[in-house]
Order: sequence, then structure tokens, then C-alpha cells
Amino acid sequence: MPKKILAFAGSNSSTSINKQLTQFALSYFEGAEINLLDLNDFEMPLFSVDREQKEGYPEQAHSFLEAIGAADIIICSLAEHNRSYTTAFKNIFDWCSRIEVKLFQDKPMLLMSTSPGGYGGGNVMHTASTFFPQFAAQVLETFSLPSFNKNFANGTITDEALKTALEEKITAFKQQIAAMK
Ligand SMILES: Cc1cc2nc3c(=O)[nH]c(=O)nc-3n(C[C@H](O)[C@H](O)[C@H](O)COP(=O)(O)O)c2cc1C
Repeated sequence: MPKKILAFAGSNSSTSINKQLTQFALSYFEGAEINLLDLNDFEMPLFSVDREQKEGYPEQAHSFLEAIGAADIIICSLAEHNRSYTTAFKNIFDWCSRIEVKLFQDKPMLLMSTSPGGYGGGNVMHTASTFFPQFAAQVLETFSLPSFNKNFANGTITDEALKTALEEKITAFKQQIAAMK
């Protein structure tokens, strides 16, 4: 079992459905030390090359990278806005990538997404699962939960087949991590 988990939802919504899915996934990692970040704590000025040149890097970008560095694994669920990352996540991504292009620091990652739609954030999932490895994420397992409002209630996935599918991914994720040691 991984000892330290860095978790976040790729959303700044106080009622984030991706945070709810992240918390559900985290319930399968009992005993681990969990650092569940809120992207609101990493709000920075909009990235610009001019700002970067004049003012350097915001402290929050360094803190986000340090939080990743301190973890054994990453569990996250990305919200999808207009078929892509939310602005809140992308701004953090952009700032951090300028400090360290190996942003995810070779950490094993369980990558998820969900949305109220039937594709479950499949577009942002496609982008992230394709390109996060270029930023040094070891994306070991992915899971998209479709139609969140139909399939999730009271902190759990209510559709049995989808719940089993996530459980199988989490089991496979844990096995791969164990095999790395
Ligand atoms: C600006 C905006 C764009 C959106 N675009 C998409 C989209 O492209 N695909 C999708 O499945 N849902 C889209 N949605 C709906 C989000 O999936 C929904 O708001 C969801 O709750 C976001 O996740 P969160 O609650 O974790 O922030 C959009 C919502 C907003 C506010």
C-alpha cells in the first residue's frame, strides 16, 4: 500500500463532482496519509510570459510541485469544461510546467474524470491520459464515470457495474505499485 497520497479534483467548484469521485476512490486506500488539495488554495494570476519574466513564479506553483514531490502516488479526477481542462487546473498546470516540465515527477497516477454527461469527461480524459506522461506522470489506470447524477449518490457509485469497474482498476493500480518495489 502506498503511504502518501496526493489527491485533487481538477476543479475549483465548492460542490465539485470530481472531488466527490476522488473522495470515493480514496476510501479504498485506508491507512494512507492523504493530502487532498483544493485548487482554490492554488489560485494564481493568469499565466503570462510577461508576468513570468517580470515577477517570476508564484509561491503557490512551488507549493503544488512540492506537494506532488512529497507523495508516493497521485489520485485525481479532472472536470471537463468545453471539452478540455478547467481554467483553474490549466493555470496551475501552466505555471508549474514552467518551473518543472517533469511536473508529475514520475509518480504513479490513478487518473479519473466525471461529468453529468454520458461521456463522463472523456475528452479531458483523452487529453490528459495522452499527454500527462509527457509531464512525467505514470498513468497506470484511468476511469471515467459517465452521467454522474444518475450513477453517484451519497458518496458512492450507485451503479454496480461501474462501481465494480472502478474497484477493479484500483486493485490493478495497487498491484502495479506493489510490483514496482
Ligand atoms: C464552462 C463550462 C463548460 C462545460 N463543458 C463541458 C464539457 O465540455 N463536457 C462535459 O461533459 N461537461 C461540461 N460542463 C459540465 C461540467 O462537467 C459540470 O459542470 C461538472 O459539474 C464539472 O465538474 P466539477 O463539478 O468537478 O467542477 C461544462 C460546465 C461549464 C461550467
